[in-house]
Amino acid sequence: MKLLTVKDEPEAFGGKRVFVRVDYNVVKGGEIQDTYRIDRTLPTIRFLLEAGAKQVVLASHSGRPKGRDESLSLRPIVRYLSERLSEEVGFVEDVLNGTAPEDRRVVLLENLRFWKGEKDDDPEFAKALSRFGDEYVNDAFGVSHRRNASVSAIARFYAKRYAGLLLAEEVEKLSEVRDNPEEPFHVLFGGAKIKDKIPVLEALVQKADRILIGGAMAYTFLKAKGVSVGDSLVDEEHLSWAKDFLGKYGDKVVLPKDHVCATAKVEKCGEGYEVKDTEDENIPDGLIGYDIGWETIKTYRDILKRARMVFWNGPLGLFECEDFECGTKLLAIFLTGFKEDGKKVVVGGGDTVAALSKFRIPYEEFHFVSTGGGAALEFLAGRTLPGIDIITKKEG
Ligand code: 3PG
Repeated sequence: MKLLTVKDEPEAFGGKRVFVRVDYNVVKGGEIQDTYRIDRTLPTIRFLLEAGAKQVVLASHSGRPKGRDESLSLRPIVRYLSERLSEEVGFVEDVLNGTAPEDRRVVLLENLRFWKGEKDDDPEFAKALSRFGDEYVNDAFGVSHRRNASVSAIARFYAKRYAGLLLAEEVEKLSEVRDNPEEPFHVLFGGAKIKDKIPVLEALVQKADRILIGGAMAYTFLKAKGVSVGDSLVDEEHLSWAKDFLGKYGDKVVLPKDHVCATAKVEKCGEGYEVKDTEDENIPDGLIGYDIGWETIKTYRDILKRARMVFWNGPLGLFECEDFECGTKLLAIFLTGFKEDGKKVVVGGGDTVAALSKFRIPYEEFHFVSTGGGAALEFLAGRTLPGIDIITKKEG
């Protein structure tokens, strides 16, 4: 896929106001939760300024507000950006009626989802947004799977639509995993929701040598195999899908051999339960699985060691609690050693990135850490993402 990127036509931005869609879905409770997504857009902002852009107008959503919600305002990002860019960044609170301050080279718009038109892919709202830029750049890979006004309807107001440097890198690195993974290629999947992962599992299993499963989704697979899972979380609705999947690809799928469990549902870390390890893959009644056990960690390490490329998505246990963090933490640390050996580990965003940040593992330790959660999974599943679909293709 040859996208038209900002690097292909730097002259297009000289003296222009450039509207850049970014994914700063990182504000919660009035604070920036993690700066990774912001940091990854800095090269595009700097590139456009160096190309002579008169003004770079950044636009994003955060959370899923129903109308204005101060705890989700993007205002805290203004200070962070000003520090990182060493210049005062402007802010536009009223996206519909306001104008960008002319004396600022970089301006951030308020959370686009404060206006219903963003979610509704409303052409009128898109038109209002297009007032802020003579040129359009999408650097928001993380939201490119959403048919929202600033990533979809806005296309009709620009003759050309460019990919930012981050979006272009996401497409390049994830395409490698999807279309041309180095072999042996292993996939490590965790997390709770099987439903969101079905399309990507079905796509990646075609290329993968092994699919190693952890996290809550493992209990559905184990139950489908006839193993007892005690009181663990099982997605009954997708049990028959899991059975079919194991029937077809059972030789590739590796499931946990032992578990770390709690004696009661974990409502608060460290309180109201005891921690118990199982002896084998079976979980006795009365116990709830929350992490993969020690034997599983060792086995997964031995298998992963043989890979040349690994795609990892989803935590392997309830990593937010110290009692159940070992599987995710130890395998994450183990995978950091791959880069030195010339092996590629690609990490798919969302909770997996939150885990890396909790364990203070630098993202540079991996071949690539995607800023996309759902978007990365949809891309790997081979789906067309509206935000990428609108990028003008490069000729030739
Ligand atoms: C994400 O964080 O996955 C994107 O920003 C999309 O957010 P959404 O799921 O609320 O549309």
